[in-house]
Amino acid sequence: MAKSGQHGGNVLQMAEQYGLTPDSILDFSANINPLGMPSSLKQAIINNLDLAEHYPDIDYRRLHDALACHIGCSPRSVLAGNGATELIFALTHYLHPQKAMLPIPGFAEYRRALERGSCNILDYTLHESDDYQPTEALLDALTPDLDCLFLCTPNNPTGQQPPLSLLLQILDRCRALQISLIVDESFIDFLPGQTGLTAYLNDYPNLYILRSLTKFFAIPGLRLGYLLSANEQAINAMRDQREPWTINAFAALAGETVLDDRVYIQQTHHWLATEQAYLYQALNEFKELHVWRPAANYIFIRNRQTGLQLQEELLRHHLLIRHCANYPGLSAHHYRIAIKSHAHNQQLVTALKQVFGHG
Ligand SMILES: Cc1ncc(COP(=O)(O)O)c(C=O)c1O
Repeated sequence: MAKSGQHGGNVLQMAEQYGLTPDSILDFSANINPLGMPSSLKQAIINNLDLAEHYPDIDYRRLHDALACHIGCSPRSVLAGNGATELIFALTHYLHPQKAMLPIPGFAEYRRALERGSCNILDYTLHESDDYQPTEALLDALTPDLDCLFLCTPNNPTGQQPPLSLLLQILDRCRALQISLIVDESFIDFLPGQTGLTAYLNDYPNLYILRSLTKFFAIPGLRLGYLLSANEQAINAMRDQREPWTINAFAALAGETVLDDRVYIQQTHHWLATEQAYLYQALNEFKELHVWRPAANYIFIRNRQTGLQLQEELLRHHLLIRHCANYPGLSAHHYRIAIKSHAHNQQLVTALKQVFGHG
């Protein structure tokens, strides 16, 4: 499958396909904070435009210090990257697993990274009857011949966050069986007060945590992510293996600037508390939709009216949602919808009323 079809946010391609101008489309397919990039960062970039005239520090010391300080860990446990995506590929290249387990449905890039290394991929199906959540049954599926397991918490596209107690059981079992556990926390910042599994890094050298700043701080075009692990040997090896300067100077500046922007973080949590509740309830009122309660800034749905192509119908209203037909484990009736500003969310609800023929 073409790379372009595997992600949301592909407004240009969809506009071309449907004969629309890209500017006329409201994008609910990429899960980006609608508050836009923090003004503190905009100002910092404007004030530091001449950074473009120099190579960034090849070790990104200030950036790694800022990330380590934010997490409360040693800078030696952190590796920043050009988005979490670079680190998914760097980590799978480093681990070079022979056998890996991927829960499905899940984020597409884990599979693409594993396929580069001729890895035997074992799909682990998450079931609708469990609300697409892993259960204790996963513990029995973990066997000593496995080299690594990917988990995404909260999961993309389902928006479900597994309970900490289960995550700790999985972590224990992986350590006992020497399985590397890669936990993608790219959306965890949207959950107020949640620190994910960072507190367990030191006790579990088999744990690798992926984080992204592109969604929460609305910088997918600037790109910044990081990897955390107490396995310093692994972090060093990945640092040594990779190409120099993959993070541009402004992305590094972003990491040094936004993590302390309390006002922006609070505004984001305030927006999400309000709009998550509004959109979840509004979508739930459509008997044509099965709606999963979201943990983060996107909502996963199944269209019960199977004859109706919801993405196409909404594009007639110039609204783009993410269809999930190309996720292994899902069907053409599953969709993911980003939570946006109140006015835009209302626009979506109004369009859905028209699509389903409600008054
Ligand atoms: C679960 C998950 N992990 C990682 C990424 C990659 O994020 P980044 O933009 O930091 O490369 C995405 C992007 O959509 C994602 O959904």
